[in-house]
Amino acid sequence: MTFPATRLRRLRRTGALRDLVRETRLDAGDFLLPMFVIHGHDTYEPFDGIPGHGRMTIDRAVAKAREAHAAGLGGVLLFGIPAGKDELGSEAWDDEGIVQLAVRAIRDAVPELVIATDVCLCHYTSSGHCGVLHADGTVHNDESVELLTRVAVSHARAGADVVAPSDMMDGRIAAMRAGLDEEGFSDVTLLAYSTKFASSYYGPFREAADSTPQSGDRKSYQMDPANGREAVRESVADADEGADMLMVKPALAYLDILYRVRQATELPLVAYNVSGEYAMVKAAAERGWIDERNVQLETLLGMKRAGADVIITYAALEAAAWLAPTPA
Ligand code: PBG
Ligand code: ZN
Repeated sequence: MTFPATRLRRLRRTGALRDLVRETRLDAGDFLLPMFVIHGHDTYEPFDGIPGHGRMTIDRAVAKAREAHAAGLGGVLLFGIPAGKDELGSEAWDDEGIVQLAVRAIRDAVPELVIATDVCLCHYTSSGHCGVLHADGTVHNDESVELLTRVAVSHARAGADVVAPSDMMDGRIAAMRAGLDEEGFSDVTLLAYSTKFASSYYGPFREAADSTPQSGDRKSYQMDPANGREAVRESVADADEGADMLMVKPALAYLDILYRVRQATELPLVAYNVSGEYAMVKAAAERGWIDERNVQLETLLGMKRAGADVIITYAALEAAAWLAPTPA
């Protein structure tokens, strides 16, 4: 049937009707809050490019985690900034490393909160690469996988619920699953940064986490932004290797990828609303060019509509507050 019998505006006539037929809803429980942890005590160093976020010591991170839990967030995603860097990034798998200490402290303070950890080497290596850099400038896949597996196991030993490898080496999911199971962590969840693009939207994050490659770039391991079919292959490969959840990162310029991965697998799918995406909204809002609340929520909604079950976002706490029912 077509117009005039069909009138699509009928369902939009009142707010109550629109509420009734709404297809996608955001919930605070969908969000994971990224946090950056440093050694020391009672210190917070705000980031320039990620407003409202900064590096914080564990005592501050515990307070933040309490806040996240109270706001009803789905959980937190921890990034560690080590005391020092070396060639292989050895603090990354040290049981007394920054992430490991933070996981234990947050686990003690907020036992019910989902704690996810970013598993990578780039914050820890002097090269700034996500794996083992050889003299010829290549990042060695299999040597990197061996070290990254140690990192994942160490995070699990500290008490992480979810370990999330972001390195993009081949075969790391199978290796980590085997490594975790061998050490008795068969219940620890693997969230694969399965489809991660070599993106310029990571700019503010790299400044913040001090993880910019000292030479070259990440294009030999992160994906070419031009490739959609390959993006699906990456996610399907990680699913086959035993990933419990998949991810598309960044999200905003890659909603088609989210949608395609959603069609290709039944696993829970995570979108990473990255630092550059958040920074653009903040910057435009600060100039009064856009309405921050509405644009931020519309952006997150688009990611969910495209197929994301979970969204990693720097706006998690703000969005949770905006979504909270206003007392009558
Ligand atoms: C490290 C890592 C990056 C991000 C998450 N983990 C940066 C990169 O790969 O260069 C980006 C997060 C963001 O921009 O918000 N592997
Ligand atoms: Zn990395």
